[in-house]
Amino acid sequence: MLNRSSTKQDLVWFVGQIRPLFRYQLLSMLLIASSSLMFLLDPLVLKWMLDIVLPGGDLRLLALCIGGLLIIYACRLGLFSVGRIINFRTTQRLTFRLRLQLLEQINRLSADFHETMPVGEKLYRVEQDVDQVAEFGSFVPHLLQAGFNLLFVVSAMAALNFNLLFVLVPLLVLAAYVAFRYQNQLRVSSKVAQQRGGDESSFLQEHLASVIQVQILNREVGQTETFRELASARMSALNDRNGVEVSFGAWYMAAIAAGTLAVLGYGGHQVLAGALSIGSLVAFYTYLARLFDPLYSTVDIYARFTRVRASIGRIMDITQQVPTVCERPNAVSLPRRNSGTVRFIDVSFAYRKHPCVLSNLSFEIHSGEKVALVGFSGSGKSTLAKLIIRLHDVQKGAVEVDGLDVRDVTLESLRASVSYVLQEAILFDRSLEENLLLGCPEAADKEVHDALEIAELQDLVCRLPNGLDTRVGPRGAKLSGGERQRVILARTLLQKPAVLLLDEATSALDTPSERRILRNLSEYPRHQTVVFISHRISSLSWVDRILVLHKGTIEEQGSHTDLIRRGGLYASLVSRKAAAGDGRASSSPAPTHANLPVPPD
Ligand SMILES: Nc1ncnc2c1ncn2[C@@H]1O[C@H](COP(=O)(O)OP(=O)(O)OP(=O)(O)O)[C@@H](O)[C@H]1O
Ligand SMILES: [Mg+2]
Repeated sequence: MLNRSSTKQDLVWFVGQIRPLFRYQLLSMLLIASSSLMFLLDPLVLKWMLDIVLPGGDLRLLALCIGGLLIIYACRLGLFSVGRIINFRTTQRLTFRLRLQLLEQINRLSADFHETMPVGEKLYRVEQDVDQVAEFGSFVPHLLQAGFNLLFVVSAMAALNFNLLFVLVPLLVLAAYVAFRYQNQLRVSSKVAQQRGGDESSFLQEHLASVIQVQILNREVGQTETFRELASARMSALNDRNGVEVSFGAWYMAAIAAGTLAVLGYGGHQVLAGALSIGSLVAFYTYLARLFDPLYSTVDIYARFTRVRASIGRIMDITQQVPTVCERPNAVSLPRRNSGTVRFIDVSFAYRKHPCVLSNLSFEIHSGEKVALVGFSGSGKSTLAKLIIRLHDVQKGAVEVDGLDVRDVTLESLRASVSYVLQEAILFDRSLEENLLLGCPEAADKEVHDALEIAELQDLVCRLPNGLDTRVGPRGAKLSGGERQRVILARTLLQKPAVLLLDEATSALDTPSERRILRNLSEYPRHQTVVFISHRISSLSWVDRILVLHKGTIEEQGSHTDLIRRGGLYASLVSRKAAAGDGRASSSPAPTHANLPVPPD
């Protein structure tokens, strides 16, 4: 996370956000301010009525007064309504722009960011924090309106009686002092409340996405208890914040009330002494009451600003992040019809603040070669695939595709040429067809038909109630694990990548289906380079070469027969599997050489 930004930075960022919408803000501000002006005129009409019209007993002047007030009220209502509509639409536009901007930035950020920040946290920032900021944006016209009203009210009061106005000076000093005292408390309580909100949202997001898993584990009560704790913490943080805000407002109002008493006492004395008319005192008092509104709005806006600063900080944590995997300015496009060679040159890699996963790794995969990558769980197989498609960047050495360092090519062209089928098969809650076409929307019907055939999905399509138009449910939950994997394989085939990285992509299939599909895959298209990561050693007969990864380096490589003959780590994996009788490599953590099973002679 980034360091906390200063008030100035927050303001600069906020002004930058509302600048494109400033003319709408200005228009709504002018309309709302004009409506306030109308609101401020009636005490003057009242004074005229009390001091001149009523003592004079002129009925026509009285009718004029009432007619004037009617026009004032009608104008006020019209201007205020139009101003509010424009203000509301401007706020919606600001929300829309901010959400879009955040989503684009989140899409740009690299895997390390997504692996670190929980989805609920991101969701909270995109929704709640953006709402806070946009809502504050809608208060900008009110702030200016408050300033404008303050100016008008103070000028009118000065014109009515300057001495009386002077009594208000201590009030303003007291108000400024209270604001200064509470500033820090408001900021801290807002930050804590938003942090608790983010924690609750992260928990909820994770829980709601895995309710079935929770039920299987019998953890409903435990999860509810955790939620109860998080929700209570959030509630008490919100109560604390509200307490600080209310106490701030109360002190502020007390300062104003003290000033009011002083004004009324002094004003009454002036009337008794004959230095002030009753009409002027009533008008002054009415203005004094209206001085509350702008002052209270200012207090309210101030409280909102401290709250919104926490949201701005959390949004800026995302907008100011620089993707760790980014395109160089002179990045070139990888040719669409590339040959698909992959080369690791002395590569070392560690996840941020974690021990080294790959060290001084060098190997080459030739164009069209089918290579299997095996090794114990945690040996770095998936990591190696992620480096080829640039989900992370190497710390030392280089990864090349077709002789070009992957850091020197555009991300778009790299990911068009290299496809990575993730270990976890995830589909989108759309129709089967939409899922298939995600990587290649322009694929022809014939190509879709071929891909379905290769992935052996035709039966499934016939069985589904709406065929290809059937929705597959959240994350593809309406399909079996093996069906999900086959859909993803078909989707990848449609992309026609030069390099295909399959990470346990067929692990949920039965062995005969897996064999058939892998044979289909290896032939379609023939020149495609395939890296097949698997624990199922019995399914590797179709590959040209097997690479055995251990402790961050290639321990041995060769064909199945070569490796068995060599009697090394691969042979020991095979004998372990044979003993276990399931054809799968162990999923236990990587052992050291000392406790590796003794390879056969
Ligand atoms: N995002 C991450 N942050 C920190 N460490 C990670 C991250 N992803 C993986 N690791 C660690 O890196 C090591 C290699 O992980 P990797 O996923 O590449 O193993 P693998 O060989 O694919 O294992 P498996 O066969 O179980 O899928 C492991 O020790 C793992 O704990
Ligand atoms: Mg893996």
